[in-house]
Amino acid sequence: MPDLTNLTHLSDLESLRQSYAKGELRRADLDPNPFQQFSLWLQKALDCQLKEPYAMTLATASRSGRPSARTVLLRQFDKDGAVFYSNYDSHKGEDLAENPFGEILFFWAELEQQVRISGRVEKLCESDSTSYFHKRPHKSQLAACASIPQSGVIADREVLEQRFVQLNEQYPVGSDVPKPEFWGGYRLIPDTFEFWQGRQSRLHDRLQYRLQESDCLTEKKWVIERLMP
Ligand SMILES: Cc1cc2nc3c(=O)[nH]c(=O)nc-3n(C[C@H](O)[C@H](O)[C@H](O)COP(=O)(O)O)c2cc1C
Repeated sequence: MPDLTNLTHLSDLESLRQSYAKGELRRADLDPNPFQQFSLWLQKALDCQLKEPYAMTLATASRSGRPSARTVLLRQFDKDGAVFYSNYDSHKGEDLAENPFGEILFFWAELEQQVRISGRVEKLCESDSTSYFHKRPHKSQLAACASIPQSGVIADREVLEQRFVQLNEQYPVGSDVPKPEFWGGYRLIPDTFEFWQGRQSRLHDRLQYRLQESDCLTEKKWVIERLMP
């Protein structure tokens, strides 16, 4: 058993309370299109100058159902879905290869808002990934090449730093760093959105958009429902 006697003393978490009163979310205020609704909320978070409001928790699960979550950056959002970039050989990459469903979550504490978006996850086409890779700063391109396999165990930090130095010599600033095969984008294609607004006395507002199955494949109908908080 590990010795926990010297564990840093935390404040009494049970007594910490925050009351939420910044806004309310009514069915009538929602845009019928959840993509538009999300864009409005994210734009507001950007306008309020929150720090990285486009950072999101990405939850995946293995074939056996074991979940895992981590932060990634939303790099594009439009009618086709939510795009993020990563290493295809990482833990999340393995999960998504086995079980191509995920959920992304945004929590904007200052706005007392949370958004959950879930759906199927697909790899971006190679040309879109390559085009984004070359828009990244030179050092970020090198870091993506150096971090292999992402999520693998390494002996120490030195291993990573040496690899970075070697790559920097191989591809000095100004030269073209080839996008590694194992690196690229994913697109989450939403079938559910949930918008959460904190309210007083924990009577929070939760409104969910659910994609309704339709006989006509071209017509997408979103059903909006209020959920118990
Ligand atoms: C603010 C922030 C942004 C991040 N953005 C990304 C990202 O866009 N892509 C990525 O692969 N990892 C990103 N990471 C690192 C991941 O959280 C994670 O450590 C890494 O992707 C390995 O995850 P995995 O082992 O579950 O695959 C970010 C971490 C933080 C804290």
